[in-house]
Amino acid sequence: MPLRWGGEAARIAVIPGDGIGKEVTPEAVKVIRAATAKAKRPLEFVELDWGADKYLKEGVTLPSGAVEMLRDEFDAILFGALGDPRVPSNQHAADILLGLRFKLDLYVNARPVELLQDRLTPLRDRKEKDIRFMVFRENTEGLYVGMGGFFKKGTADEIAVQEDVNSRKGVERIIRYAYDYARQNGLNRVCMSDKSNAMTYAHDLWQRVFKELKQEYPKIESRHLYIDTLAMEVVRDPSQFEVIVTCNLFGDIVSDLGAQLAGGLGLAPSGNIHPGRTSLFEPVHGSAPNIAGKGIANPFGSVLASAMMLDFLDWKPEAQVLREGVRSALKESFVTPDLGGMKQTVEVGDWLAKYAEKSL
Ligand code: NAD
Ligand code: IPM
Ligand code: MN
Repeated sequence: MPLRWGGEAARIAVIPGDGIGKEVTPEAVKVIRAATAKAKRPLEFVELDWGADKYLKEGVTLPSGAVEMLRDEFDAILFGALGDPRVPSNQHAADILLGLRFKLDLYVNARPVELLQDRLTPLRDRKEKDIRFMVFRENTEGLYVGMGGFFKKGTADEIAVQEDVNSRKGVERIIRYAYDYARQNGLNRVCMSDKSNAMTYAHDLWQRVFKELKQEYPKIESRHLYIDTLAMEVVRDPSQFEVIVTCNLFGDIVSDLGAQLAGGLGLAPSGNIHPGRTSLFEPVHGSAPNIAGKGIANPFGSVLASAMMLDFLDWKPEAQVLREGVRSALKESFVTPDLGGMKQTVEVGDWLAKYAEKSL
């Protein structure tokens, strides 16, 4: 049986994946090790080599029995990124990343947007206090389920169908999670965003569930915005948002938009969560083939995702050390080129590990 976070130990599966996933993930592991070195609490990492190389060599994406192993033997998964130009179909990414999200039923994709330093936002006159909100992306349904097909493929009459699957249970649990998160964290505003004016079946369900649930949270200000308006409002005045909850595809897009408002993809973390079960933590960014192998990828996103993972495992002080480390590195301008610095991925990782050691 796995050692759950009521106990002292945690087992972490590490899946670096492809491209810069292989560069940033070891740095995050190094920093976690440093932050937990004196904690006298065992933390065990097991690395799994799933990704494009394995797929191309062995034809294996998600090995058989993998889901059960992760579910039963691990407390959390630290994930890098998947995506490789040698696999144009991205089949391995669909099987592994979406496979784990679906099969482990990780229905919450939590993607915090937080400006850590005023200079990092492209928005004029916006300060740290103005950009701090949480995006909850439904993570097990919607347009991502892979239902659909082709008709007359390759002909002039071709038809391609991709189904948008929304269940009552799926919509309810993500909206409820968003409200509960707001309540537990002293936040006052939840905004549900959909496209119910055009998606008159799928998002009618979102509308009905939202109307029902908001009655249960009368102290929280409930608001609805169509997704196009939300995209505009997030740029016009991000300070109006505290919690945003939306469907799988819109959440994917809004979280990259939010990431850029807070300094770019290099800094953005995420958690794929099912409360009480093995959950997966990863930076929001992908494998970045355009910079892979150059040693310049920003490890902050992976380190901040690790902080979310430690929080989830109830290692709160250690999580805090990771976050403080990133803030301090930013203050000292000890950063990679995407943030205007000259440092290499490994140098930043070493710096954060030293910071963690000193903080113990
Ligand atoms: P990407 O996130 O990999 O890169 C977008 C841009 O951001 C690039 O210019 C890249 O250099 C930059 N960037 C991203 N992370 C960075 C970091 N840590 N430091 C510095 N710069 C960084 O998105 P993309 O180019 O659209 O996708 C590349 C591949 O990654 C594709 O195969 C895609 O499917 C995959 N992908 C995977 C995930 C995931 O595994 N969760 C997420 C997004 C994209
Ligand atoms: C993300 C990525 C994935 C997604 C891709 C790689 C399928 O963009 O994690 O944001 O769309 O969920
Ligand atoms: Mn994405």
